[in-house]
Amino acid sequence: MELVIKNGKVVMPGGVFEANVAVMNGKIVSLGKTELKADKIVDAGGKLVLPGLIDSHSHIAQPFQGALPKETWETGSVSAAFGGITTVIDFAAQFDPITYEKLGVMGDIKRKEEIAGKQSVIDFAFHGIFVDFSDMNAVLREMEEVVKYGYPSFKEFMTYLLLAISDWNLYLMLNKSREVGATVGVHAENYSLEEGMVKKFVEEGKKEPKYHPLSKPNLVEAEAIQRAIILAEWAKSRIYIAHMSTKEGVELVRNARMRGAAIYAETCPQYLTLTDDLYERPDGANFIISPPLRKKEDNEALWRALAEGYVALYGSDHVPLPSEAKMAAKSFNETPNGAPGNELMLPILYSEGVNKGRITLPRLVEVSSLNASKLFGLYPKKGLIAPGFDADIVILDHKLKRKVRLEDLHMDIDYVNWEGWELTGWPTMVISRGTLVIEEGQLVGKPGHGKPVRGKTDEEIIKTVR
Ligand code: URP
Ligand code: ZN
Repeated sequence: MELVIKNGKVVMPGGVFEANVAVMNGKIVSLGKTELKADKIVDAGGKLVLPGLIDSHSHIAQPFQGALPKETWETGSVSAAFGGITTVIDFAAQFDPITYEKLGVMGDIKRKEEIAGKQSVIDFAFHGIFVDFSDMNAVLREMEEVVKYGYPSFKEFMTYLLLAISDWNLYLMLNKSREVGATVGVHAENYSLEEGMVKKFVEEGKKEPKYHPLSKPNLVEAEAIQRAIILAEWAKSRIYIAHMSTKEGVELVRNARMRGAAIYAETCPQYLTLTDDLYERPDGANFIISPPLRKKEDNEALWRALAEGYVALYGSDHVPLPSEAKMAAKSFNETPNGAPGNELMLPILYSEGVNKGRITLPRLVEVSSLNASKLFGLYPKKGLIAPGFDADIVILDHKLKRKVRLEDLHMDIDYVNWEGWELTGWPTMVISRGTLVIEEGQLVGKPGHGKPVRGKTDEEIIKTVR
């Protein structure tokens, strides 16, 4: 064998087992108790052995709303790896975010595959994003092309000036997604309501960060989620609600799933753990993300939904915008949206989820890895520790307690929204296709190791997502 990981507790969807994991040619070849010879033997020493995380929502090195990150695909993939992530699903949009040149989704995929292919230390895939709907036939044709190329997923904005899709165009995309076997996601916020609220606050001179959540109360998300669900049911397609933040959203997804609709939801560490009182802080602008942070009761509803199966995906929505760009804005509505966090993905999910009894270890594996693999066409390469799958593995020291301090992290950014949190459970080793990326907490991976992961969805496999 190339590599054997012994003395670990291997986490599978069906339970936790003591087994040695053997790797050959970058793939897992066996799990069992037999002692095997190998070029490299890793003694996991009773720690947890998990499939590498698949970050279902990542914006590595991406400028947004005029703000430019310092992050590159190299540094962004390194911080992801430190967060236990072995595959990022990033985004390919129609326009270059700096020059606004129209590249098409396929053009952006090719551009990003080249950059990430040279710089990334972990594997990557893309969701397509369409924002120009002036020729819908061209959009639908390109959707087909993107799926054939190997990226069977899309995310569309129901909000943001110049980016939002109309209901009819979303319905057309959902119809096409059913025909071609794609999964469409939505950023669900009602743009008209939000725009009206923003205008009202700004006219009243209410420009501080605390007006950001007030301009987009829970119902702004809930209305858009309900509309997206109705459109998906009408088109007999599936849909996923990206970065869901509200207890009302949980109710709507639960009701839809109870009547058998193929509705999935994703949430993020920030919506599980942070609350809207943070907007009152002097650095409140750093928490301006969309949807906004909510209340404790929303956090808890999302944790319950994650445990019960109504939230199936856990993504970072990592947006590496510098604090300088966020704090410089004169009003909450001019603050570029998004905040970084991929490096804390696994520590937050383990510490706040498993360690506090909110989710089980097998459920952690489903929401952070297996479900994204199934919904976004990475199955059966990624998402499980099982023979035939890529040897993407994380060893988690589930007893290691550490305070979050920006200076200890690897994200190329000047703030972290969990500064000072004490988290239990940190990755100590991260392996991508059998190659060590992080060893004893140190980076050993090389830029250019990461490869595009192209595939297709399997309708029968998707039915098993819960
Ligand atoms: O505030 C956020 N989430 N910014 C990133 C773009 C998006 O909506 O995903
Ligand atoms: Zn979004």
